[in-house]
Amino acid sequence: MDKPQREQWQSKRGFLLAALGSAVGLGNVWRFSYVAGENGGGAFLLVYLFIVLLVGVPLLLGEFALGRRMQSESATAVARLVPSSRWRHAGLIGIVAAGLILAYYAVIAGWVFRYAALYLTGAAPDLASGSHAAAFEAYIASPLQPLAWQLLGMALTTAIIAQGVEKGIEKVSLVLMPVLALLLIGLAVHSATLPGFDRGLAFLFQPDWAVLATPGVYLAALGQAFFSIGLAMGVMVTYGSYQPATRPLPGAAVTIVLGDTLFAITAGLVIFPAVFSFGLDPAQGAGLAFIVLPEVFGQMAGGGLVGAAFFLLLSIAALTSMVSLLEVVVAHAMQRWGWSRKRASWSIGGALFALGIPASLGFGLWAGLPLPDGRTILDVMDFIAADLLLPLNGVLLAVLLGWLWPRHEALQAADLHGGGRLGRAWHFSLRYLVPLLVGVVLLGSLAPLVG
Ligand code: PHE
Repeated sequence: MDKPQREQWQSKRGFLLAALGSAVGLGNVWRFSYVAGENGGGAFLLVYLFIVLLVGVPLLLGEFALGRRMQSESATAVARLVPSSRWRHAGLIGIVAAGLILAYYAVIAGWVFRYAALYLTGAAPDLASGSHAAAFEAYIASPLQPLAWQLLGMALTTAIIAQGVEKGIEKVSLVLMPVLALLLIGLAVHSATLPGFDRGLAFLFQPDWAVLATPGVYLAALGQAFFSIGLAMGVMVTYGSYQPATRPLPGAAVTIVLGDTLFAITAGLVIFPAVFSFGLDPAQGAGLAFIVLPEVFGQMAGGGLVGAAFFLLLSIAALTSMVSLLEVVVAHAMQRWGWSRKRASWSIGGALFALGIPASLGFGLWAGLPLPDGRTILDVMDFIAADLLLPLNGVLLAVLLGWLWPRHEALQAADLHGGGRLGRAWHFSLRYLVPLLVGVVLLGSLAPLVG
């Protein structure tokens, strides 16, 4: 009997929206705008655009091409590229990184789901208590409730993945991504009516050209680009493997990168005008989404509704990213051990939920652990996955794609064989730009470790 055919995206739109759903996540909403604001606003934006075009698009295209050519999930795709070299195990790094990121990403997603539920049911968090910071900190320190939301998020993610590529990931993306876009546009239009709109724009866009002389800006832009597009984690290799050979890849890679960037910029246009309109501070990270913004929604006319839209948007963004991370690990287990999709989904979803439990408890019960620099358990997991494994895998991938994959085969797989100049530019980037730039980022992450 013939082997059953590999699962496939049913439509071009389904593939695009699924990949975009993976790329657009928590990282776009708060991380991008904050990093931009702190690193020179418009000047950073320019650097970021250059980097996503010179590094992000080529690597994304390379990942798609590898997955589609090898018709297999990410680790096997790498192994098939260099079957008899010791590089063949390199693809496992991406699997480990994806699993680790999903484990702690689910903790933060759980907070998001809980806030969404509060706003949607009209029970905006603790307006009576007066302090959103205290309410948030007390909440994440409590042992059980956050775990329950984290479990719910993982269960939902797992249920989608258990349904498969077409009936699970593609279907959900086709429904949720348009909702996400509508929510974002609605919020952006509302934001333009706020008195702080100009100041928000200035924070995000006013170029401070002096920053171009500081190396930190390039590092920040590159790190953000990797995380935001979702590179070097196996996601895009695995997603590419479900794409039929008849649909060209380069246009898809450009569309996804530009869509991801546009989403991040628009999210900044939603957040900062609101923050400045109410005279608050654009704090970083979790503080912005869970403390400053609830404060803003509390003061804003119709803030309950705006808050509900905002947290619903964040929930969708987080869910579709979690789905892509779980798929990487599940597809690997199916291929490696011959497990059925259902079995792989539920056992790995369960194991990664368990792995995320310490990350959640690290804010309460286990907050006293003596970790370096006062980091939490979640910070440490994030550092290992996003700052070490990601750039390491990025360099390896670029070397594999640019140097170990015969050039004409790579060009063919990427639909760039007849493409003259474009093909040359793509290959040049994979060979030289990506390894060089990402190698520098990796050294930057290692520097604090060696003191
Ligand atoms: N790109 C997602 C974000 O911006 C996070 C993510 C990383 C998702 C890697 C999948 C893979 O939040």
